[in-house]
Amino acid sequence: MANRKILVAANWKMNGSLESIRHLIKALTQGISNETPTEVVVCPSFVYLSELSEQLNKTNIKLGAQNVSHLEVGAYTGEVSASMLNDYGCEYVIVGHSERRMLYQETDERVAEKFCAIQSKNMTPILCVGELLEERESANTEKVIARQLDAVIDKVTIDAFVNTVIAYEPVWAIGTGKTATPEQAQEVHQFIRLRLARRNKSIAENIRIVYGGSVKADNANQLFEMADIDGGLIGGASLIAKEFLSICHAVRK
Ligand code: PGA
Repeated sequence: MANRKILVAANWKMNGSLESIRHLIKALTQGISNETPTEVVVCPSFVYLSELSEQLNKTNIKLGAQNVSHLEVGAYTGEVSASMLNDYGCEYVIVGHSERRMLYQETDERVAEKFCAIQSKNMTPILCVGELLEERESANTEKVIARQLDAVIDKVTIDAFVNTVIAYEPVWAIGTGKTATPEQAQEVHQFIRLRLARRNKSIAENIRIVYGGSVKADNANQLFEMADIDGGLIGGASLIAKEFLSICHAVRK
């Protein structure tokens, strides 16, 4: 098996205040060291990137963003470009999160355009894919995931996946407290890896596929033990320092 380092990314969403974020980051920088077995990324709201890029400088915690414009520059009120994220030292950008797909009507095509914008500035996309509950119940999980993945691969080619993280996030498990069982998640992770392998075996073997959806301190270990689960994208639990730190220290045995 390829030696894929576990990645744990915090998706803070639209939560926190300057004060609470300062508290949280203080606890995280104290709790993450050279010895931490996982790669740790935090993705705050845009307005806190500047603060965090200073605080994370010379720590082992990397900075990510939750969204980006697909466009480079110009009269696009309210948008943030990939080069702006680069200015603040972002290394990762979440793209295709189900909240963006559903609440902001981001299509597969738009997700693919954003993916390109991220990579054009040498940052790593965390590409989210996942099915709705009704899609799972009608046995369409694989079909949906395949469509979401292929929309990006067809635009950028499989070679772009050398520098990509995929997050499998079943929509029914996000923020609901209903985690997919390790076996349910593993099944989809394996499907994703096999689908990529049809285009390029070595890329498929080396890419990290993380799981998201109600990951907590008490289920992270079982999830990360599965052969194709290479970490997590953590929402709610990433806002609680103790919970998140314990997820960051969950490793494959
Ligand atoms: P959750 O969110 O951990 O709160 O379920 C995960 C995500 O949306 O990335």
